[in-house]
Amino acid sequence: MKRSPFLSILSGAALIVAALAGAPAVAESGHHEKKPEVHSWSFAGVFGNYDKAQLRRGFKVYKEVCSTCHSIKMLAFRNLGQPGGPEFSEKEVAELAATYKVKDGPNDSGEYYDRPARPSDRFPPPFANEQAARAAMSGAYPPDMSVLVKARGYGRGFPTFLLDALPGFAYQEHGADYVASLLKGYSEPPHGVTVPEGQFYNAYMPGNRIGMPPPLSDGSVPYDDGAPQTVDQYSKDVTAFLMWVAEPHLETRKHVGQGVFAFLIVFALLLYFTKRRIWSNIAH
Ligand code: HEC
Repeated sequence: MKRSPFLSILSGAALIVAALAGAPAVAESGHHEKKPEVHSWSFAGVFGNYDKAQLRRGFKVYKEVCSTCHSIKMLAFRNLGQPGGPEFSEKEVAELAATYKVKDGPNDSGEYYDRPARPSDRFPPPFANEQAARAAMSGAYPPDMSVLVKARGYGRGFPTFLLDALPGFAYQEHGADYVASLLKGYSEPPHGVTVPEGQFYNAYMPGNRIGMPPPLSDGSVPYDDGAPQTVDQYSKDVTAFLMWVAEPHLETRKHVGQGVFAFLIVFALLLYFTKRRIWSNIAH
């Protein structure tokens, strides 16, 4: 479909107005979901970095819990060893990959076969296709997690959205806050609210009903680095991991930004002193 430039400008303007009015990005009118809790993420802000230990724990939670329903199609095993991520060693990555089976082929007799995964392979999805997933999940579809954290968000409302408009101050962790809150947000439905079979009450899901059974419970994933084995900690760790999956180059991006700022400051000082020097012999 061809869109007239006028329409594009109009819809662009409407989006800006909606953003300025703090309109919730995910919420539909009439529902009563809670605003996600604001977390203090290590990767927030101009100097933000991923916490490697947290990414490793988060990967463990993904592997042991979420990966039974959710795929991460964009993630290859070798990514787990790259700088700026969980940074597993080459040996750890190869050993991990070998525990998975992937489809390959056709071989010389024209058949497809299973072989152990190699670091260059992507994570095999839990379901063969969307229909198979829906059939197993009473109709709900567990979305792929490659960019899920960045695909979710919410409006923060007045007055913080004013700050969000300023470069350097912009809050970019809405998606992470939402996912972590969602994972902690299960409870019994409030009095008078009924939830249909196969659905669960969740305070943060738009419409308060979600087709995902509560995935986490205290102590369900053993940690070996002494971090608390609680739903709260699991939620934050797996969200940090999924944030890295969605934005693996965040650290490089921020370092480049810091370098640019440092350069601009030095350059401004140089200009100032050059100006003083050039004009110093001229009488005013
Ligand atoms: C038993 C299967 C199952 C497991 C295990 C599971 N999920 Fe889900 N998940 C689902 C289904 C089904 C949906 C779609 C729900 C819907 O649309 O109502 C979903 C949806 C989601 C959503 C999207 C919610 C939205 O805003 O649309 C997020 C985020 C999510 N899951 C995170 C996780 C994380 C993190 C884990 C691991 C800790 C996990 N899930 C484990 C089945 C699962």
